[in-house]
Amino acid sequence: MTFVQYSRNELANLRDKKDLLVLGIETSCDETAASVVQNGREILSNSVYSQIALHTIYGGVVPEIASRAHVEKIDVVVGQALRDAGKTFGDIDAVAVTYGPGLVGALLVGVSYAKALAYSLKKPLIAVNHIEGHICANYLTYRDLNPSCLCLVVSGGHSHIIAVGADDSYHLIGCTQDDAAGEAFDKAARVLGLSYPGGPALDKLAQDGDDMALQLPRPKTQGKYDFSFSGLKTAFINALHTMKQQKKEYVPQDMAASFRHAVVESLVEKTMLAAKDTGAGKLLLAGGVSANRLLRKRMEEACGQNGIQLYMPDVSLCGDNAAMIAAAGYRKIIRGEAADLYLNAVPSLRLV
Ligand code: KG4
Ligand code: ZN
Repeated sequence: MTFVQYSRNELANLRDKKDLLVLGIETSCDETAASVVQNGREILSNSVYSQIALHTIYGGVVPEIASRAHVEKIDVVVGQALRDAGKTFGDIDAVAVTYGPGLVGALLVGVSYAKALAYSLKKPLIAVNHIEGHICANYLTYRDLNPSCLCLVVSGGHSHIIAVGADDSYHLIGCTQDDAAGEAFDKAARVLGLSYPGGPALDKLAQDGDDMALQLPRPKTQGKYDFSFSGLKTAFINALHTMKQQKKEYVPQDMAASFRHAVVESLVEKTMLAAKDTGAGKLLLAGGVSANRLLRKRMEEACGQNGIQLYMPDVSLCGDNAAMIAAAGYRKIIRGEAADLYLNAVPSLRLV
């Protein structure tokens, strides 16, 4: 028995449909999310259940707790997304789900649910890479935006500069040699005593601080367009420990601002270098860290100075959500890429 439900030809018929509705499902980490998106651009609903409260006391995501919470909430969240959109299961044309990268147990909840749903509805199942989803959040914010473009993906696990082709192909231009930007923000936030998730808390604290209070080393990298945040992070932690040991007063706002400044300067510098060298006219930001206020401001300034058009997802779409998964799923339908029902979670799935 084969589990392939939809062939390329059948998908081709679907994409001729006037108003194509994709149900997106996202459970790769600590958000249980579902969304209905029309024609890959219009969000009809975007339902997110955040597990932050469950993980805060542990200072980070506990995989086992995340998986269980997804199991408990997925049905409720999908039901909510349909209700908010004023749709029923019968109205949905395809089910798009994140199948990696992420926590295996968490991913499996969404993948299993989506497979069962697609099978019972006799609708195509679309397997979406979470990182492609983050990139596609831009197509929801800017309805006329299309590749080709350059994209800086900055999240908890990624700091990648990716060239996106007009055919949605992805090519790696540069990436972090060690920590991802979000990971570095989270670690710096932790030593400052901020609660999980640290990145947004550090960003907020930094708003009232002095960027220049603490001088941090500029990272050295092998590749011209690569990043490195682990040296920066260690220098920051050491500086704080030394001050604490010497019982020196320090202003947490200044520490947060200096760290944020150093990370953002590096992201902007390398991305602009890549944009200039590749002759990119459009630059996209993507991933949780693209909500960072200083990053958005500095990128705007740098792109303005260099005649590059900047696109940033609405702040509400920077973090994990299912609208971006539905938007990416729509593009896969247009490309004729359906999954079969043997689909499995791929925790270390790569885009490039
Ligand atoms: O994309 P995302 O929601 O999940 C992953 O796919 O990893 O990114 C989460 C990361 C976390 O490290 C979080 O601290 C960071 O994005 N983040 C921020 C901000 N908002 C979220 N980092 C710095 N400033 C922010 N405003
Ligand atoms: Zn994410």
